[in-house]
Amino acid sequence: MNLLILGGTKNLGRHVVEAALRDGHEVTLFNRGRTAPHLFPEVRRITGERAAPDALAGAEWDGVIDLSGLLVHDVRRSAEVLRDRVGHYTFMSSIAVYADKVLPGQTEDAALLSWPPDAPENVFTMDLYGPSKVRAEQLLTTRYGDRTAAVRSGFVVGPYNPDFGNWGEALATGGTLECAARPDQPIQWIDARDLADFLLLVTINRLPGPFTAVSSTWRMADLLDAWHSVVPADLPIDWTPEVDRFHLPHDGSNDGTFQLANNRAVAAGLRLRPPTASARDYLHWIRQGNTPPPPPH
Ligand SMILES: NC(=O)c1ccc[n+]([C@@H]2O[C@H](COP(=O)([O-])OP(=O)(O)OC[C@H]3O[C@@H](n4cnc5c(N)ncnc54)[C@H](OP(=O)(O)O)[C@@H]3O)[C@@H](O)[C@H]2O)c1
Repeated sequence: MNLLILGGTKNLGRHVVEAALRDGHEVTLFNRGRTAPHLFPEVRRITGERAAPDALAGAEWDGVIDLSGLLVHDVRRSAEVLRDRVGHYTFMSSIAVYADKVLPGQTEDAALLSWPPDAPENVFTMDLYGPSKVRAEQLLTTRYGDRTAAVRSGFVVGPYNPDFGNWGEALATGGTLECAARPDQPIQWIDARDLADFLLLVTINRLPGPFTAVSSTWRMADLLDAWHSVVPADLPIDWTPEVDRFHLPHDGSNDGTFQLANNRAVAAGLRLRPPTASARDYLHWIRQGNTPPPPPH
């Protein structure tokens, strides 16, 4: 297929491009050419700003995967420009869209955050991250109907992606594993490569969304044990809340965000590798001399 990827060169996007090329798709990248501009030299590039995507008006694609849609304004513009130029619009959304942060077992039909009155559509703040994703999903559904899907994920792990705290580095160098969550903290995640494959699957098969693309729910202590099991050394673990690299509240007020139902995505074909496979590959990537990127916030 002929695919347009908005973004594609930083964290998750690299895996999407690699997977698309691996599967023999023709890929066009749209970005500003600032992040890793030497990547994928064989791929066609259109250089431009999300805020003014007029350069996309010169071609047509079977599908677009939007990885750089953080501002409502920008998604609105690309939705307009691409409306009659793409078959399917797949939007990378977030589990931050759900309004209730405590209730376990929420499906894609659960209540979503609302848009604060008078909030700016063209300014990024962390407070507006979830509402912006909701509003972008909604405007795409209004314009594209069944020709759009939103894929909602949370923690994304793997090479080039912010890891679980310092686990990758600690496993590679023998340091203390910083956890900073309650041992019984519910946690969900997805390997970046599984997410990339799912974004492609949704786009190629033109599946209408939304999909919550996350693992099943684990206890944090069990996930840490799984990662720890890939190195023979018995490393110290620091559960002190102050060393909070996970940004998870310790009072349970965000537990529902990591107890979401993933049944719809799994039924559609989401494949989830075991956490030991993610940990082993991540460790290998670090041992090759790569540095994990900083956390996004
Ligand atoms: N834990 C997670 O990472 C997580 C969880 C849930 C959802 N998400 C969502 O996943 C998506 C993927 O993020 P990612 O950083 O991994 O994607 P990515 O596609 O790997 O990197 C971002 C891309 O966007 C381009 N870009 C940034 N600002 C731009 C602008 N103003 N105009 C045009 N292009 C621009 C960058 O290239 P240039 O700098 O060269 O322009 C880069 O290619 C995001 O929408 C995020 O909200 C991520």
